[in-house]
Amino acid sequence: MRRAVCPGSFDPVTNGHLDIIGRTTRLYDEVIVAVLVNESKKGLFTIEERLEMLREVIAPYPNARIESFRGLLVDFCRAQQATVVVKGLRAVSDFDYELQMAQMNMGLAGVETLFMPTNPQHSFLSSSLVKDVAKWGGDVSAHVPEVVAQRLAERFKASGR
Ligand code: PNS
Repeated sequence: MRRAVCPGSFDPVTNGHLDIIGRTTRLYDEVIVAVLVNESKKGLFTIEERLEMLREVIAPYPNARIESFRGLLVDFCRAQQATVVVKGLRAVSDFDYELQMAQMNMGLAGVETLFMPTNPQHSFLSSSLVKDVAKWGGDVSAHVPEVVAQRLAERFKASGR
């Protein structure tokens, strides 16, 4: 079975992430969307909330599933018997860091990284940008799935911004 991992923080998932996940499901038998649990970085959404949103938005892709992981991505890949990581590249600015991680992961465990160019529609998009716009009441509905737009609105309403 050809199995790929799409890793990330997904705080929250955007249409850019979803584009990469959906395209990867057409290339591999199984795609594992892997959410990093990073105790040292407090996100806007809890891991459980991120997983819930992801579960909902990947429902149309029967060969995708969601997992969370701690520690090294290569250890997660090994445990899942996945040899390929697929990452989206939005712009040249993504490349330096992504290349470092890809080369480290190859050296650590022989895990391959494949870079997939982001759909130009989403090339400026990031979870951070979406959170910043939503925080100040901006409309992010073109950039995130509906469930995410709703959760962002609820979260910022509850916090009074
Ligand atoms: O969505 P992000 O925050 O850009 O995702 C980054 C992620 C989760 C893919 C990366 O930080 C990662 O793989 N973290 C796991 C820890 C690890 O393996 N670090 C060494 C990378 S060479």
